[in-house]
Amino acid sequence: MKKLIIDTDPGIDDAIALFFASGAPDIDLLGLTTVFGNVTTDQATRNALYLAEMAELDIPVAKGAVKPWILPPFPPVSRIHGDFGMGDVVATTPLKRPIDQTADEYLVHMAQEHKGELTVCALGPLTNIAAAIRRDPWFAQNCAQIVIMGGSVDAGGNITDHAEANIYHDPHAAAEVFASGANITMIGLDVTHKIQFSASDFSNVAWNAPKLGGLLQQMSYHYIKFYQTVGKFDGCSMHDPTAVLACTHPGLFKMRDTAIDVVCSGNAIGQTIARPIKGRSIIKAAIYADVPQVKALLHDRLGRLP
Ligand code: BDR
Ligand code: CA
Repeated sequence: MKKLIIDTDPGIDDAIALFFASGAPDIDLLGLTTVFGNVTTDQATRNALYLAEMAELDIPVAKGAVKPWILPPFPPVSRIHGDFGMGDVVATTPLKRPIDQTADEYLVHMAQEHKGELTVCALGPLTNIAAAIRRDPWFAQNCAQIVIMGGSVDAGGNITDHAEANIYHDPHAAAEVFASGANITMIGLDVTHKIQFSASDFSNVAWNAPKLGGLLQQMSYHYIKFYQTVGKFDGCSMHDPTAVLACTHPGLFKMRDTAIDVVCSGNAIGQTIARPIKGRSIIKAAIYADVPQVKALLHDRLGRLP
């Protein structure tokens, strides 16, 4: 069982990823930390509490950073995930509250408690992860692995021509994380753009898993509509669920060992450049995925949810 903490900005594909992790037989989901990105941090926290409650997960949710490390705060882009982050689904007032620890305090504490065993899967901007690294110089080493949904090697960007959204929203934090020496796997657009779910995939999931799959189907209408308006494809990208799957099934991906440089200013801000850099830590960047297998696993496991 992988001991996992998910750092998230739910977000429709984040919601799919959280439900996926909640039902995965090889994941021990210890907690959630929240960050701005698809929505504000307050909304992300409300959504995370709501999603945990729906999945009957009795786990801590720690609220994280409300703005990028250095860049000024920015308004969330509601056209992709909707005004409240989950398309047509609006979180009812959750019964539980976030814990008193901040996200970075909680991450540091858990990495110490589960030294060498904890995987952190980051599905939003890397602000909390960078804050944890700054809070505890041993954090990067204490984590068994940090799996990041973000960036791209050869696939260009999605929020600008150059940049993927999670890196773009806090490039300085991302640069710090990639240079930290942690055991990092980057699951970027090179692979996540290829893992697509169509409306009929969601119908299937909803048929097999009426409660949680039904909620995901309801959320997916907005997400698929967005992808149709940008003319990309007839379905949506499963960015965040693919990253969670990579935590337990790295063999379904081909990785390139490389250093990652993050452009922190100018026109290409947020771009990740994979190239050897003397003295810089080497990470694994996914460049290929076994698409049919990844899709089949997502399908099968989402379909087994309640
Ligand atoms: C990433 O950005 C967000 O919109 C998604 O939730 C995902 O984490 C994809 O670029
Ligand atoms: Ca996300």
